[in-house]
Amino acid sequence: VDASLDLHAEINRLKSEKNALLLAHYYQEAAIQEMADFVGDSLGLAREAANTDAEIIVFAGVHFMAETAKILNPEKKVLLPDLNAGCSLADTCPPDAFEAFCNEHPDHTVITYVNSSAAVKALSDIICTSSSAAHIIEQLPEDEKILFAPDRNLGAYLMRETGRDMVLWDGVCIVHETFSERKLLRRAAEHPEAEILAHPECRDAVLQHADFVGSTSQIRRYARDNGPATFIVATEEGILHQMRKDNPGNTLIPAPPESGCNCSQCPHMRLNTIEKLYLCLEHEAPEVTMDASVREQALVPIERMMTMSQ
Ligand code: 13P
Ligand code: SF4
Repeated sequence: VDASLDLHAEINRLKSEKNALLLAHYYQEAAIQEMADFVGDSLGLAREAANTDAEIIVFAGVHFMAETAKILNPEKKVLLPDLNAGCSLADTCPPDAFEAFCNEHPDHTVITYVNSSAAVKALSDIICTSSSAAHIIEQLPEDEKILFAPDRNLGAYLMRETGRDMVLWDGVCIVHETFSERKLLRRAAEHPEAEILAHPECRDAVLQHADFVGSTSQIRRYARDNGPATFIVATEEGILHQMRKDNPGNTLIPAPPESGCNCSQCPHMRLNTIEKLYLCLEHEAPEVTMDASVREQALVPIERMMTMSQ
């Protein structure tokens, strides 16, 4: 990229010339969040993607999020700045093994977390996000047998929350799985006034110390509405950008992972950069595509999620 270019201005110019909508997840770098038309959690982003009349959707997030936008908008061009921006959790659930697992539990309703590939969604009955999962499960009859995939931490949390027994796929997110209970308790002892906010992809050992558990948007809203106060935040540190802006009086402390630095970044999310965003808008590539039959099958459980999460 030509170093003399004002990428901020160029991205804005390309967005309006091409009638493109820029969606960004909270785990994107702050500069990308600042350029976005909408910043949100997985459900909010899927809703924006479903409702837009833009011709192009540029997804500053990871592959499964852009794929969901494409499933909802087959006629639109959906771009992802870096096609390698995957998800460690989605990768724990390959479609062939998942199909065999579902076949071992034929009488179960398959509820799949949105952090999964289109092929896995195509094998599912209902998709959910972390902000909609409990609400969706509670709408199913008490005696309905449920298989939940792919996140075992979210699944176990939902079992505790809803009181429902579920068969769980054994997947985890590398970012949330590595928050350290030991270090979290040390931070909490240093800041006894702090409330702990955690994403439900964290292990139970971390969640049991949380004052509030929710999706990225829900964590953001909680801190905005309950500040000024001190919060220890157990999720990807990109969320702190909007949280700082929402309520500058809040003291925000990232929860530490077991090893490495004092905060956590998702290596997949962080593959997107402002430079790649500019190039992707300029060249209208890389584009997210998929097999039409997978797309049509995956749309059914996604539409159920949209209806059931209202
Ligand atoms: P949210 O739906 O809470 O934004 O979660 C997305 C995600 O990838 C969490 O790791
Ligand atoms: Fe996937 Fe975890 Fe990154 Fe979210 S934070 S995109 S679940 S690897």
